[in-house]
Amino acid sequence: MSMTYYIDVYGCQMNVHDSEIISGILESEGFSSTEKPESADVILLVSCAVREHAETRVLGRASQLGGQWRDRKSGKPLIVLCGCVAQEHGNSLFARLKDLDLVVGPDCYRDLPALIRNSERESAVDFRESDYTGIEPVRKEFPRAYVTIMRGCNNFCSYCIVPYVRGRERSRNSDSILSEIAALSRSGYGEITLLGQNVNSYHDGDTSFSELLRKAASAAGNSWIKFVTSHPKDLGNETVSVMASEKNICEYLHLPFQSGSDTVLRRMNRGYSVQEYLDRIALLRDAMPDIVLSTDVITGFPGESEADFQKTVDLLESVRFDNAFLFKYSERTGTAACSLENPVPEAERLSRLNHLQELQRKITVEESGKLMGKTLSILITGPAKQPGQQASRTEGNRMVILEGTDFSPGSFVDVRITRADGWTHFGEPVENSAIR
Ligand code: 5AD
Ligand code: SF4
Repeated sequence: MSMTYYIDVYGCQMNVHDSEIISGILESEGFSSTEKPESADVILLVSCAVREHAETRVLGRASQLGGQWRDRKSGKPLIVLCGCVAQEHGNSLFARLKDLDLVVGPDCYRDLPALIRNSERESAVDFRESDYTGIEPVRKEFPRAYVTIMRGCNNFCSYCIVPYVRGRERSRNSDSILSEIAALSRSGYGEITLLGQNVNSYHDGDTSFSELLRKAASAAGNSWIKFVTSHPKDLGNETVSVMASEKNICEYLHLPFQSGSDTVLRRMNRGYSVQEYLDRIALLRDAMPDIVLSTDVITGFPGESEADFQKTVDLLESVRFDNAFLFKYSERTGTAACSLENPVPEAERLSRLNHLQELQRKITVEESGKLMGKTLSILITGPAKQPGQQASRTEGNRMVILEGTDFSPGSFVDVRITRADGWTHFGEPVENSAIR
């Protein structure tokens, strides 16, 4: 009988796609997936180490799962910790979690079937995988798909653990990326997101990111192309002009600025100034007046003064992002920022975070409100939470809910926005709207 596995994912889109790669590896070796952890032979947790909170959550879950089976007579499932926390702590996790069986880092997923069959307590955390070329991911979402274009990061922003747990930057071969995109488009995927820690530094021989983007647009046919994450220091003019000229590249960009103060940006090792960031935004808006922009910000980085923080507030107010992901600074052992002077007290990090959240909520509501009565093209993604409703996304990644419609997932529909509630909107199909 084939072994069954259950998989749970924490963290970013890269982890979500890694779990699809893990499924691809396991299923090609005869494993089959189950939605029920209690009946699985193997439970895999794909973990995130970017902030302490994420790490605590996944370790808590691993320990709770282990405890659940301790008193049972029937065999306990194998518990496997995958991902960035596995890479970060390696072997030492066995002492902390007595029911944990395997620890497998992001570059060792090809070993999973053998490690599982061995069923020894083992860790595999070497940096040896380039990019999982040749593995057919088992995609769990339709009609939205992820395609990895590069893995790892060389930037060493001083707060960030990613370069330590995901290793150095490597770009995937462009031909294999383009054929994957073409195949997804032929199978009806309406949205294809190119993934990498720093997509702008993609490089395969002579193929730069902007080149890849142009070719991706034509390989994708009518499907939308999005990409994450961009780094302000590497976002080139050429990329902006490809975005503006290629119809199916979404006019949407996630461009983290992290702090509005030049001194803080320098200590973060970000490689750009506030003015350079604002110049990028101006360039983007010149080329695409309706572009939807989102960002990431950290509050309470070591040494961030009240005046530095005020500059972050000013930047958030002046750019007016459509959406922002706001975080309070979290120490990550081994990163350069841990040894910086003048840590900001936890309570202050939190109160600055709350301040930004309130401000951004207001901006998001105001910007969404401007869409009332407008007609937007949306991609139907599936049923919404409430019965009788369907969910969809705009090219700018906004969620739009439709009531009483019955479109098939993957359809593009033109809708008029009737109500907005922050990032969630409600809309009704425009009569005779062309469905592609
Ligand atoms: N503390 C808080 N936020 C962090 N991020 C990365 N590392 C940390 C950290 N140590 C945030 C950054 C990044 C996003 C993915 O997570 O804003 O852009
Ligand atoms: Fe971390 Fe900076 Fe690399 Fe992003 S660019 S993964 S924040 S080191």
